Amino acid sequence: MPNPVLAVLAGEAVWPPPVWLMRQAGRYLPEYREVRADAGDFIRLCTTPELAAEVTLQPIRRYGFDAAILFSDILMLPWALGWGLAFKEGEGPVLPRLENEADLARLDPARVPEAIAPILETVRRCRTGLPATTALIGFAGSPFTVACYMVEGGGSKDFARIRAMAHARPELLAGLIDTLAASTVDYLSAQVEAGAGVLMLFDSWAGVLSPALFRRHVIAPTRRIVATLRQRHPEVPVIGFPRLAGVQVGAYAAGTGVSAVALDTGADLSLALPLVPPGVATQGNLDPMALVAGGAALRAEAHSVLEAVSGRPHIFNLGHGIVPQTPPEHVADLVQLVRSA
Ligand code: CP3
Repeated sequence: MPNPVLAVLAGEAVWPPPVWLMRQAGRYLPEYREVRADAGDFIRLCTTPELAAEVTLQPIRRYGFDAAILFSDILMLPWALGWGLAFKEGEGPVLPRLENEADLARLDPARVPEAIAPILETVRRCRTGLPATTALIGFAGSPFTVACYMVEGGGSKDFARIRAMAHARPELLAGLIDTLAASTVDYLSAQVEAGAGVLMLFDSWAGVLSPALFRRHVIAPTRRIVATLRQRHPEVPVIGFPRLAGVQVGAYAAGTGVSAVALDTGADLSLALPLVPPGVATQGNLDPMALVAGGAALRAEAHSVLEAVSGRPHIFNLGHGIVPQTPPEHVADLVQLVRSA
């Protein structure tokens, strides 16, 4: 296999492990900030293939990561479905609140193909611009996490509205998750057809649900998405990231059919890895704040991840995205450290 990320996702314990970092394109890089300032609006950056491909490739040029991840956002799917979206400086995403069946009926899958066309063009440009040994990861948010932002109208400290809706209006939430799941399959399939060789599902808020709701709104829709993708593109591996899932990571890895499970910063690898069934690879889970600190603290944390995953099919990554205050030199130090393991 020419590509170490694909080899790991096929079950091979490649050593040293391949490495890429969540949010590897972003505000910690001066060259990103430059393109971002010229683009003006974040959505414009995501939907201008020339610019989006450029920022996807920036961290590959600088660090030679084993995978590039399409520069886009999980909220581009609700945007494509016709739901409003704005990124406000210092505030994060702002969306209308989805409150009832009439709101749900306004989501329009018919407008998705045209809306996502520029994103697919970005995928094509990225694949052409990357070395064959670098994997290209396409992605989407998982239906539950995308629903979190739609129901709350943006980010939230506790996601109280959607958690209450899950109990009080179970059919409304199930309808929203079903609509999102169907569009997610089409969106991810289209990314594969445009050149993505790996897919990732970001479920950043999976861990806010109680166990029964986790099975219903996280495991079940993820299993349906993975199964349908496998029918269309049997060869394409899927990485699932059920953030904050804690001990449910075993049920997620076994129940969804993902090729790999991404572990978050809080996952104690000595406890989490035994929960992952054989045949499912892992990814993660260095603390992004160790990367901010750098030096001896970074080395100690990175070595402890490497030691825990040695002998397993594992992709080295963070346990959540790079934060903007990360010094770019620390990222170079980390890549060198992993490569010399
Ligand atoms: O490099 C990469 O990882 C690829 C691009 C990518 C972005 N967002 C770019 C982005 C990916 C994979 C995402 C996923 C994403 N987006 C998630 C899941 C992962 C996670 O972090 O939990 C979530 C929850 C979102 C929603 C989102 N997008 C939020 C909450 C924010 C605001 C927070 C912030 O950092 O400003 C965004 C904006 C966003 N998405 C930025 C980037 C680089 C920053 C926007 C900017 O440059 O102004």
